[in-house]
Amino acid sequence: MTVREILHVGNPLLRERSREVSHAELASPQMQQLIDDLIDTMHAANGAGIAAPQVGELVRIATIEVTHNPRYPYKPPIPLTVVVNPVVEFLDDELVEVNEGCLSVPNMRGNVMRHVNIRVSYADRHGHPHEEIKRGLTAGTFQHELDHLDGLLFLDRVHDTRSLTTWEQFERFHRAEFIERITAFVERVGS
Ligand code: NI
Repeated sequence: MTVREILHVGNPLLRERSREVSHAELASPQMQQLIDDLIDTMHAANGAGIAAPQVGELVRIATIEVTHNPRYPYKPPIPLTVVVNPVVEFLDDELVEVNEGCLSVPNMRGNVMRHVNIRVSYADRHGHPHEEIKRGLTAGTFQHELDHLDGLLFLDRVHDTRSLTTWEQFERFHRAEFIERITAFVERVGS
């Protein structure tokens, strides 16, 4: 088990576009080790996901998993998913305002607009292709992680900077209202 250091906002590597991974490279011990490290690091930090550039590796790989997450208790579960060279297609114009945080942006949350219905195409860690429809907060989680591969942070998508809060102030002033709204949303659209 290797928990890697997570880069924080301000580190220029978080602003780079990560490169695609070839099939042969994906099969290498180094790349498989990186995937294991991402999973371990995500688990250790209670993240809903983590992308390779967040540990300083500029390749288009991310891991996503939501079980009972203390950081985001309202998120529907997502089984452990390794995405390699992912591509997202927006299926319509429906958007939802989601309050997000990020392991690379310590102690900050803010509201961003995310597409509700997406199709994501990717290879898994064995190189097998997948194409799946994701909805609601699960779609939002995928969009957040895939943004990292293009050098984007949720901060870039915060449309009203007055929504920015520390985690403590979110709990104190905003959590109840957000959870009420987003729970109704999750029940309506699913994942
Ligand atoms: Ni993030």
